[in-house]
Amino acid sequence: MSQQTYHITTFGCQMNKADSERMAGVLETLGYAAAEDEFVADLVLYNTCTIRDNAEQKVYSYLGRQAKRKHDNPALKIVVAGCVAQQQGEQLLRRVPEVDLVMGPQYVNRLADLLAQVEAGNQVAMTEPTHILEDITKPRRDSDITAWVNVIYGCNERCTYCIVPSVRGLEQSRTPEAIRQEIETLGRAGFKEITLLGQNIDAYGRDLKTNLAALLRYIHDVDGIERIRFATSHPRYFTEELIATCAELPKLCEHFHIPFQAGNNEVLKRMRRGYTHERYRDIIALVRSYMPDASITADAIVAFPGETEAQFEETLQLIRDIEFDAVNTAAYSPRPGTPAATWEEQLSEAVKSDRLQRINRAVAQSAAARSQRYLGRIEEVLVEAANPKRPDQVSGRTRSNRMVFFEGDLQRWRGQLVPVEIREARAFSLSGQLMASPTLQAVG
Ligand code: SAH
Ligand code: SF4
Ligand code: F3S
Repeated sequence: MSQQTYHITTFGCQMNKADSERMAGVLETLGYAAAEDEFVADLVLYNTCTIRDNAEQKVYSYLGRQAKRKHDNPALKIVVAGCVAQQQGEQLLRRVPEVDLVMGPQYVNRLADLLAQVEAGNQVAMTEPTHILEDITKPRRDSDITAWVNVIYGCNERCTYCIVPSVRGLEQSRTPEAIRQEIETLGRAGFKEITLLGQNIDAYGRDLKTNLAALLRYIHDVDGIERIRFATSHPRYFTEELIATCAELPKLCEHFHIPFQAGNNEVLKRMRRGYTHERYRDIIALVRSYMPDASITADAIVAFPGETEAQFEETLQLIRDIEFDAVNTAAYSPRPGTPAATWEEQLSEAVKSDRLQRINRAVAQSAAARSQRYLGRIEEVLVEAANPKRPDQVSGRTRSNRMVFFEGDLQRWRGQLVPVEIREARAFSLSGQLMASPTLQAVG
């Protein structure tokens, strides 16, 4: 029998990307090989996202096509993992009976056992809340330069718009020892940059009587790792101790993703975010007092139920005042089981799309203004890939996470930190020229 193949399609956030890499690792351990084409693979896995309604709808359209394929090829295995799987559970099996396995995010490390049940002829839905097992499998990572490292799972907040707590479960921190061990393995394998992951990463350690600042100190000296990042931070837990620690540790990159969601206090209160816009501004000011050049990015929601035009304008004002490097924006989408979805003051699609366009314009202006500061500077770039639009160019990121393109040979520079003089600045990317490299200097 020829080797069985698999294909994974990943929707949603970095947490899902990290989970997909672990599930790919499990599948390869079981003897599956990666297939390029999802309509040829013997096993297809959709790792799903339900943060907004359109994210969920996408999954059903993909599943429909695979269900048809299964009628001609009954051996095809269809797996639905991630947040839609968690939210729908057995309902999903009823809606798309061709699906073999529905598994919530807490079961990622148990994929092998669940597939064994499928092989035994069962249709399986596994979404009971459970303790996440320490990952003993080897993930198949998409990159060999940068890696995700899970640090805290779940979310204990209850933002009134958000479905995440009900699909990702309660907070569960990994132990500092397990995290350090994973990072040491990455360092030995030649990885240069890690991003520590959590829904609210700065809440790390509350269940272990430690915190993120202590974890950063504990992992900072791992050999081989040159850059450390973390995301996503919740303003409520972003302490001065954490800021001071980031400023002090040389490998800690000066980029912080701290969503604000809205710029009006009444809206923030109804979102149940637990801070005011004044408090948010104070945190950013504190970050900049320690690290004047820090990049700040965020998430924001427009057209939350009942948001007035004047309240929305306060969000625009916050964006202009802070000058963000980037902001992920979205129109509010009602999610099942969340309080805000039942409120009467839902806004029309017309208001949503108008506000989304206006906020995106403000974000682009703010990002373009922030990009100007790089002109003429020499930035350290970690080279990762080719520029898909210009094969003679390579791409990488600054410590502040801006994408940079420059002329160069990918084979030569891939995985290296090189100095690049910035000559052109666009809102979300930069172009420049490679400076005489440290290695060349050593030779000359
Ligand atoms: N834990 C992080 C955010 C994780 S969810 C935090 O609280 O900051 C990622 C982003 O999705 C959120 O920041 C929010 O901007 C967006 N989001 C969540 N629920 C949404 C909804 N119902 N409609 C639109 N956007 C939503
Ligand atoms: Fe959702 Fe709020 Fe938790 Fe973030 S903190 S994941 S927005 S409930
Ligand atoms: Fe989506 Fe789940 Fe992440 S809902 S944003 S994949 S936590």
